Amino acid sequence: MEEQSIRVELSQSKKEKPKAVELVFGRIFTDHMFVMDYTEGIGWHNASIVPYQPITLDPAAMIFHYGQSVFEGLKAFRTKSGSVQLFRPEKNMERMNRSNERLVIPPIDEAFLVKAIKKLVEIDQEWVPDAEGTSLYIRPFIISTEPFLGVAPAHQYKFIVIMSPVGSYYKEGINPVKIAVENKYVRAVKGGTGEAKTGGNYAASLKAQEIVEKEGYSQVLWLDGVERKYIEEVGSMNVFFKVNGEIITPALNGSILPGITRDSVIHLLKHWGLPVTERRISMEEMYDAYEKGELEEAFGSGTAAVISPIGELYWEGKHIVINECKTGELSKKVYDTITGIQYGKIEDPFNWTV
Ligand code: COI
Repeated sequence: MEEQSIRVELSQSKKEKPKAVELVFGRIFTDHMFVMDYTEGIGWHNASIVPYQPITLDPAAMIFHYGQSVFEGLKAFRTKSGSVQLFRPEKNMERMNRSNERLVIPPIDEAFLVKAIKKLVEIDQEWVPDAEGTSLYIRPFIISTEPFLGVAPAHQYKFIVIMSPVGSYYKEGINPVKIAVENKYVRAVKGGTGEAKTGGNYAASLKAQEIVEKEGYSQVLWLDGVERKYIEEVGSMNVFFKVNGEIITPALNGSILPGITRDSVIHLLKHWGLPVTERRISMEEMYDAYEKGELEEAFGSGTAAVISPIGELYWEGKHIVINECKTGELSKKVYDTITGIQYGKIEDPFNWTV
């Protein structure tokens, strides 16, 4: 198939850029966005970079009714030399196609979209902030746009990429957070959409999050939806535990999102020669490890926060305090190495940055 060209329409007026101190997560957007349409019979077409602007949709557009959509999240980083680089963008486009498959959305040309994202970042490169811990968050997403109220896969879609200069995702940054283990609500079940990056999974997580926040916890630890015994994710992140020197993370079982940061953490730990295991982990097992003094560290991993240490787990009336609620040595080393590679401060032995 011949590769499409990208039409570029530059913005006539540039928005004022925020100061580094004002940067929170995902509130400010750059001058341009990428848009592409899908029409059955034609395929993906009309690839364009245009001024950032609202979109007009028919109120009957299927996205509003049955939520047929997918999204991704990745970042562009400003290196010390002033250049801009992306972290494993091909992995995001690959996962987007897996999410598309699950949501019955037509596949995208992964290599073309990596190029399109690079071009968009290049056009808005002045928006990549340079202060410590800041980056340009890139949000590709697809929505079903066909006006139709029947429950069926749509015949029309829009693929859009917007970008937002960001600071840290959690106000705690790399400081440990308190987590409540969720026993009532579940995020996903095997056979559902848990391993796809689709908005509905995040909508399903809000209720539990709202409740625990009022009780003073940052996030919930999600358990499996059937037995409510096995650990799945933490908040919107994958989760890792260090028990007696071994690092363990729940195996991808069909209801867990295959995180790109998760994959990077596993690669890194193996590269360091540390024992890493992907398997089923019960909450009971973690409690036993804690009682024996073997639960050394726990942390969440995700694109937005990179690494978020867990200082305390609240489970069935018990407060499990991990590493005296301090950032563990391994959590810090993983964080420093991944962000070091992302910002070009240290060598990238895996060719993750482009
Ligand atoms: C991430 O950890 O990067 C996430 O997926 C959270 C995002 C939805 C803001």
